[in-house]
Amino acid sequence: MLEGLDGAGTTTQAAELGRRLRARGLTVLVTAEPSRGPIGSLIRTVLGKRLVGPAGRPFDRGALALLFAADRLDHVASEIVPTLASGGWVISDRYFVSSLAYQTLDLPEPFVRQINERAPRPDLTLFLDVPAEAALRRRRAEGAAPELFEDLALQRRVALGYRRALTEGGGGSPVAVVDGTASIAAVSDAVEAAILERFFSARPASERRAAERRPGRSVGAAGRSKVARVARTR
Ligand SMILES: Nc1ncnc2c1ncn2[C@@H]1O[C@H](COP(=O)(O)OP(=O)(O)OP(=O)(O)O)[C@@H](O)[C@H]1O
Ligand SMILES: [Mg+2]
Repeated sequence: MLEGLDGAGTTTQAAELGRRLRARGLTVLVTAEPSRGPIGSLIRTVLGKRLVGPAGRPFDRGALALLFAADRLDHVASEIVPTLASGGWVISDRYFVSSLAYQTLDLPEPFVRQINERAPRPDLTLFLDVPAEAALRRRRAEGAAPELFEDLALQRRVALGYRRALTEGGGGSPVAVVDGTASIAAVSDAVEAAILERFFSARPASERRAAERRPGRSVGAAGRSKVARVARTR
């Protein structure tokens, strides 16, 4: 599961990781939350501010958190479990940790955890680490319409929420942190390296070649030790 602030690059990297794993002959479903299902569509109307509460008041945040949790279980049942059962891989652009980071802005963490208790924990949560300012700059450069949780102060609080969730092992699954500020291709290489290390105990070809060119040094070693450090602090 890929996680990060709005604009961190999760959609870009989920798609690229899907391409890279397919190139290795794997069957891969690249999916996202909110899902493409009926509850996901409803959530998007709330995030896009097209669905509000009575008299134009904000949509109730507890109700929104429940929609996210309901969408997650529907997503798991309708897309994730069938793909895994047929031997495929699933890459999701956002999952449970997003709820820990965003829904706890307005709600107690135990409530958010409780309503997500039945969502299966992923094999790996991969966090794209990008400062709130840089992530917002990317969103603005895209010309994206501002969404519900999108302003700098809020994104900084979301970043703290992510940090808390990830360092406390809040996702309930192994965590890898990848520096998301580098170029798209460099981030993709780091994401691939983290996946290979977790699932194949191997390094990607580009990294092996670089290491061979420089005996005694391993490109990406800093990234890997960061992953290991985060994993150990869980
Ligand atoms: N490493 C990168 N360097 C520079 N620009 C990037 C990088 N990764 C993504 N971008 C650009 O930043 C924008 C946001 O990327 P993307 O849509 O993948 O982010 P996201 O995390 O999915 O954001 P959202 O929360 O809007 O879904 C896009 O225009 C994308 O091309
Ligand atoms: Mg996205």
